[in-house]
Amino acid sequence: MYCNEMASRMAVEVVVLAAGAGTRMRSAVPKVLHPLGGRPLLAHVLDTAGNLQPNRIHVVVGEQSDRVRACFSDHSGLSWVLQESRRGTGHALGKAIPEVSDNSTVVVLFGDAPLTSADTAGRCVRESGDGVAVAIAQLDDPTGFGRILRDDDGRIVGIVEERDASEAQKSITEVNTGVLAASKSLLEDLVGSLRPDNEQGEYYLTDVVALAAKRGLRVSSVTADPEESLGVNDRAQLAQLERIHQRREASRLMAAGVTLVDPDRIDIRGSVSAGHDCVIDVNVVFEGEVSLGEGVNIGPGCVIRDSVLGDGVRVEPMSAIDGASVAAGCRIGPFARLRPGTELGESVHIGNFVETKKASLGAGTKANHLAYLGDASVGEGSNIGAGSVTCNYDGVDKHRTEIGDGVFVGTNATLVAPLVVEDEAYIGAGSTITTKVGRKDLAVGRGRQRNIQGWTPPAKRKRRTKE
Ligand code: UD1
Ligand code: CA
Repeated sequence: MYCNEMASRMAVEVVVLAAGAGTRMRSAVPKVLHPLGGRPLLAHVLDTAGNLQPNRIHVVVGEQSDRVRACFSDHSGLSWVLQESRRGTGHALGKAIPEVSDNSTVVVLFGDAPLTSADTAGRCVRESGDGVAVAIAQLDDPTGFGRILRDDDGRIVGIVEERDASEAQKSITEVNTGVLAASKSLLEDLVGSLRPDNEQGEYYLTDVVALAAKRGLRVSSVTADPEESLGVNDRAQLAQLERIHQRREASRLMAAGVTLVDPDRIDIRGSVSAGHDCVIDVNVVFEGEVSLGEGVNIGPGCVIRDSVLGDGVRVEPMSAIDGASVAAGCRIGPFARLRPGTELGESVHIGNFVETKKASLGAGTKANHLAYLGDASVGEGSNIGAGSVTCNYDGVDKHRTEIGDGVFVGTNATLVAPLVVEDEAYIGAGSTITTKVGRKDLAVGRGRQRNIQGWTPPAKRKRRTKE
């Protein structure tokens, strides 16, 4: 991979600028923690940074820095830099530069631009040489972006921010994406020369381009896909980027051999891996890490989180699956709810309005309607009747129900845990079972039926009418 080759040729360090106030988000949550595809914006940028295989990643934080750092506490090898007062992108980079090792090439990424690719950033590193390289994009609507200024020979001579641009400059459609690369020593020098002489009174990182050009240094550009340039400054842009992200995820799944009934109506908030010939109907939401085997079929309106579904599993409409492991050939739903700790063996059937939690069900077991199985284990080939419930909670503690193989639990059984029901036992409908049921035993725990003959039902009294 070229990234490896690049790393061996030059030491790369990434600086991610993530200290902005995010004022336009109007939020108590730091901008870079807002989710895109279920993960913080900053997580996407750190993925890109990581793909460059840098020696180090520096993250400049300001607003609620503790909160941002806490969110990435399990991400090893990050060097955090604090920018206490927010005085512009150039000022932010200036805070990080002293932390960067000498003789490295620095790549700057923006924490609010989650679609930037490692390919674009890597090309900037290779193009930078003794000068500066910037990633640019051609946009139909360049509003809000820094515009690329060129001289008559087409050489880049500067970047002007929207607020400082003349009307003529505003008509330029070539924009700065924010990705920039140069050697540490050059950036240290250039950033030290920045002046806040602009409309916002900030130290603009973009001004290093004009400074380099004035010194006769080469300013190279790398053209990025227009989508990569998009940043999140407000909620509308966040929604726009979310759609782009979802469309990319959908394309990836389709390329892997998955049929999406409508690629615009699937949401992946995390990551999904899938075998060939899965079919995913509309309005399915995936969260966390989900793995689908081959030929899995998911009906409309399902929500599937942190779960593994084996080959040929069928999930009927409107089912919620969370933290479950579902073996090949199972049939789930419609309207089923599998909660964390659910483990289903092969060809288990879970029907409508059945809820499971911390429950293992052996191969071929069926709970087809209206049941609750919590803190329970059920063997193979058992049948759980409609309306049957494990009473796992006594108000203080949770208790387990252990049901063996080939057990028949009749309709509306109340199984009071802790309870053991041995293999091939039979539980009569409507029973309340509180003590162990032995192998092959029939347990019936209900009031006997009495038929009272000649009984006179209460008659309606005649209403007296006023005379
Ligand atoms: C910036 C660029 C603009 C470019 C656009 C692309 C500058 C001056 N402008 O504008 O040319 O077209 O991005 O999206 O660089 N940040 C800090 N500390 C600060 C200020 C900002 O860390 O003091 C961080 C922000 O968190 C953000 C990034 O730098 O992640 C960019 O800042 P932002 O204010 O969003 O710049 P734009 O106005 O979008
Ligand atoms: Ca921005």
